[in-house]
Amino acid sequence: KRPAGAPDKSLARPVSKVGIVGAGLMATQFATLFVRRLQVPVVMTDLDQERVDRGVAGVHAELDNLAAKGRLDSDTHNRLKGLVSGTTDRSEFADCDWVIEAVFEEVKVKQDVFIDLEKIVAEDAILATNTSSLSVDEIASVLQRPERFVGFHFFNPVAVMPLIEVVNATKTNEATVATAMAVAKNLKKTVVITRDRPGFVVNRVLAKVLGESMHAVDTGTPIEVVDSALAPMGLPMTPFELLELVGLKVGVHVLESHHAPFPERFFESANLDKLADAGAKLIERNGKGEKTGYTKEFKQ
Ligand code: CAA
Repeated sequence: KRPAGAPDKSLARPVSKVGIVGAGLMATQFATLFVRRLQVPVVMTDLDQERVDRGVAGVHAELDNLAAKGRLDSDTHNRLKGLVSGTTDRSEFADCDWVIEAVFEEVKVKQDVFIDLEKIVAEDAILATNTSSLSVDEIASVLQRPERFVGFHFFNPVAVMPLIEVVNATKTNEATVATAMAVAKNLKKTVVITRDRPGFVVNRVLAKVLGESMHAVDTGTPIEVVDSALAPMGLPMTPFELLELVGLKVGVHVLESHHAPFPERFFESANLDKLADAGAKLIERNGKGEKTGYTKEFKQ
């Protein structure tokens, strides 16, 4: 196996049409970035037409915002809107050379998506997962051509966070890594190549911070004390604001996926599990999005 360094750039394949599986919040952010930076057709799919329509409308709204801020001229704005489409029929991915998923963070769900995609896309199309907490090798284990499969991990908010982790899994080939690097560069992101390890690089550290913060609350420190203690530490967000940003369910997955392989080193949080299951919030906010308090639902 080659060392985890940069691959030969000349192996990168061109990307002339992008497919995005999912049309939710994450997928909308992906689609906006891909269409804006690559300026190629981007097609989103989801389970029903309503979700698809909402996703496409979300991308159009983001492009409208960029135009209103003067970041897209009116010709480009209109052209980019025309490049985004949505469908419930994944067979429209047939001529995509890059497909990325933004579906539920569960191995079986993602595997089923990729099994299906392999029946649709060309042999050398790249398939990418945005998983933040699952093993890329495990997802790839059901694929016929795992060499064209790669982790491509964005951070939230996708438009603003500069980094992408390209996960070079055991069977990923050099052309796939080279293409992923080129795509990341064209998206104007900084890229690191990581191996398929729990948390890759960034979430390994974040899981520690989030898990320790939740553990402090779970063992009796009031949430507002932990939050306000960390607020002046120079971080752009407190751990609880970050948990809200990524979504409590994603937070639970991140903690679980570190606790399972390293139970001595990483905490899970029963309180976080319950709040996530209930679709509840950690932080209470007013209509303007300003923080007004914290959940009263913790059992300590
Ligand atoms: N979507 C799109 N753009 C957004 C956005 C969003 N959700 N939130 C903020 N922005 C944009 C704003 O439009 C603004 O852009 P312009 O300057 O171009 O107009 C810019 O970001 C700055 O926004 P604000 O001035 O409103 O706010 P801020 O200065 O407080 O910055 C922040 C907001 C960038 C989110 C900052 O708080 C931050 O960096 N937070 C840390 C985020 C972080 O750590 N993310 C990683 C999470 S972990 C993860 O995602 C991995 C995982 O797998 C779980």
